[in-house]
Amino acid sequence: MISQYLYISTAPSLSREDVDAILAASQRNNAARGVTGLLLYNGRNFLQLLEGEESELVSLMVKISHDSRHTGISMIDRRLVEKRACPNWAMRRVMIAESVEKRRDLLKADLPEGLDAQTSKIITNFVVLN
Ligand SMILES: Cc1cc2nc3c(=O)[nH]c(=O)nc-3n(C[C@H](O)[C@H](O)[C@H](O)COP(=O)(O)O)c2cc1C
Repeated sequence: MISQYLYISTAPSLSREDVDAILAASQRNNAARGVTGLLLYNGRNFLQLLEGEESELVSLMVKISHDSRHTGISMIDRRLVEKRACPNWAMRRVMIAESVEKRRDLLKADLPEGLDAQTSKIITNFVVLN
């Protein structure tokens, strides 16, 4: 079984470059540690899905929780799954568009198929928040 974590955090004013730097480090480190997932940033909050061995996620969360680029980490869900939802994404950025309609369309194209219904719903709700 694989552990899957879903959390949100707050980061009021990160630039595109800041988020790209987080993604680049995530992709490098996660690939080496068998961690996969996705990251969304809406200009105020992050939502991140992480999946991998429990011990890897525990140590990654310690690192992430000490990162001063965000605060207020709140774990929404932590579960064991049979299969990864994002097996090919060391860390994928999911884009958030300007209009709510565009956001829904983009998300449909971007969300991994292996996500369970509840997790998909949480991510979709996050994306349509203004
Ligand atoms: C919202 C958010 C998500 C992050 N996700 C990851 C991640 O999935 N993997 C990772 O290695 N670092 C992640 N980081 C970055 C870590 O906090 C840390 O800066 C990074 O792992 C350090 O990498 P380095 O030791 O290679 O410089 C994230 C940071 C933030 C703010």
